[in-house]
Amino acid sequence: MAYPEQRLRRLRQSESLRRLIRETRVSVDQLVMPLFVRSGTNVRTAIPSMPGQHHFSVDQVVKECQELHDLRIPAVLLFGIPRHKDEKAGGAYAKDGVVQQAVRAIKSRVPELAIITDVCLCAYMSHGHCGVVKPKTSSIDNDASIELLAKTAVSHAQAGADIVAPSDMMDGRVGAIRRALDGAGRENAAIMSYAAKYASQFYGPFREAVESAPRFGDRKSYQMDAANAEEALREVALDIEEGADIVMVKPALAYLDVIARIKQRFHHPLAAFNVSGEYAMVKAAATRGWLIERPTWFEMLVAMRRAGADILITYWAKDAAKLLREK
Ligand code: PBG
Ligand code: ZN
Repeated sequence: MAYPEQRLRRLRQSESLRRLIRETRVSVDQLVMPLFVRSGTNVRTAIPSMPGQHHFSVDQVVKECQELHDLRIPAVLLFGIPRHKDEKAGGAYAKDGVVQQAVRAIKSRVPELAIITDVCLCAYMSHGHCGVVKPKTSSIDNDASIELLAKTAVSHAQAGADIVAPSDMMDGRVGAIRRALDGAGRENAAIMSYAAKYASQFYGPFREAVESAPRFGDRKSYQMDAANAEEALREVALDIEEGADIVMVKPALAYLDVIARIKQRFHHPLAAFNVSGEYAMVKAAATRGWLIERPTWFEMLVAMRRAGADILITYWAKDAAKLLREK
């Protein structure tokens, strides 16, 4: 007598049948590659806390984007590392800022590649916070911050960004950015909001990479508490109401339940950000022979998809595109 579960087990023994009954697929179409841009020419500097990732000057990021496009990756997410930091994050919205220059260069050389820009102030602020800090109390001035964020988003869109991605978590910023984009004649620029962004230890390697760790305090007054999932649903609802076209959960792996619940409740494209700490952990373990890198990250990408993410933002995007080409 053949038990049904035995039949399934037999099906799984053959690669062809495994493919046939597989529920979750990872495709190159879902991948977004994050890239770090800085000033200078011919710069391609390895980032120590994120092995395999680099700081690129504009000319080099264009080259990298050409390769990613050739691998059929649909989009990149740009982070800028400015030459100067100040108290008003001037480099974030400068017309010739490093991200604005990169967007123009990529659009002129690889026009088909979609460009998403991270919109935040922390990397451009001398104090490293995502918003304007009130001098007396050292607290964040929400409304002054969203004004600068909207200016930043508009300058990215004017340079040619297809999607702007506010990662600051200030209140009302999606609405303010939408109004500013429309007012500047950039109705077609979309918004991908970091809707459920948790105050997380998993950003450590990234903060090292862009030198954006806050000089004092932490980000707990504007990023979410890891203990809260209902709040994530409220944040997503608000961002959608304010005009978000794509919503994101960040980090990904410790928050798969949040991804699953958002996917069930809302009907917007949903992105998962597989962050720097998730990347660095696997890299570190793999160099010691404690994990095998490729199947480990592939399992992570499958898990994010299984939870319900439509879009995977991952530092393994280039590697994954190569792997999927071979498969
Ligand atoms: C800045 C920003 C951060 C990340 C993306 N945008 C860091 C932070 O909020 O401290 C994290 C990305 C990563 O860890 O890969 N607002
Ligand atoms: Zn920030």
